[in-house]
Amino acid sequence: MQMHGPLGVGMRWREAGNGGSVVLFVHGFPFSGAIWNEQLANVPAGWRFLAPDLPGFGGSAPLGATLTMDILARELECFLDERGLGRAVVCGLSMGGYVALALWRLHPERIRALVLADTRAGADTPDGRRARYERAALARSAGAGAVAEAMLPQLLSRETREGHPEVETRLRAIMDTASVEGVAGALEGMAERADSTVVLGTIDVPTLVIVGEHDVLAPVPEAEELAGGIAGARLVTIPGAGHVTCMEGATAFNAALAAFLAGLAAV
Ligand code: MLT
Repeated sequence: MQMHGPLGVGMRWREAGNGGSVVLFVHGFPFSGAIWNEQLANVPAGWRFLAPDLPGFGGSAPLGATLTMDILARELECFLDERGLGRAVVCGLSMGGYVALALWRLHPERIRALVLADTRAGADTPDGRRARYERAALARSAGAGAVAEAMLPQLLSRETREGHPEVETRLRAIMDTASVEGVAGALEGMAERADSTVVLGTIDVPTLVIVGEHDVLAPVPEAEELAGGIAGARLVTIPGAGHVTCMEGATAFNAALAAFLAGLAAV
């Protein structure tokens, strides 16, 4: 895996593989592209995997703005443009899924196929929105770490926390790289996001929906609803995993992803 620094503009990113077909990985909140390390370590032949850090997360500088899902989608479009990449399979986890759906709404021609992990199509409820603004205020008054600590108990399954404590250690280290601007901006952006349920029926590319068996933040029924709204979508449940399936159930996640990508060869 190669690491790349900022190029004056744009986002820091990781990449692996030198094939002609691209998967663009979009991380969740408040993570970074590092959540995809296990995927970048297992790139199938013929593929190139790219995992940027969204602005204000990991090594990418903050934008100093509310990070609406549309702004993040446009950042990804620029990221593809900067590399001369036309279409990609877009794989988003949780907030990354919200961004993938925004990119579909804005520029479906850039998406060859979708992988939507531990995410949902719906907008926030009024209570959920209020809680986001409270957390954004918490980030600004007490630091990004305060938000991360509040979220941690809900992110990983009990199996992961007790059987693989190293996953929690790695995730905590990833969350430590988030900036206050990134955390507060993304919370406000997620609060403002549109309901994407209406776009599900327009999705006409192959779609894989993944969910952790014990995800409490975007639970199995929401994944079923998401997959049910997209013609031909396949749903895979990752046993024993919570919300961060790409890390908690990396082997099963990679197997599902590899099978999905293999099926795209003819598309
Ligand atoms: C994420 O993992 O990206 C967040 O849980 C998304 C959210 O808070 O809705």
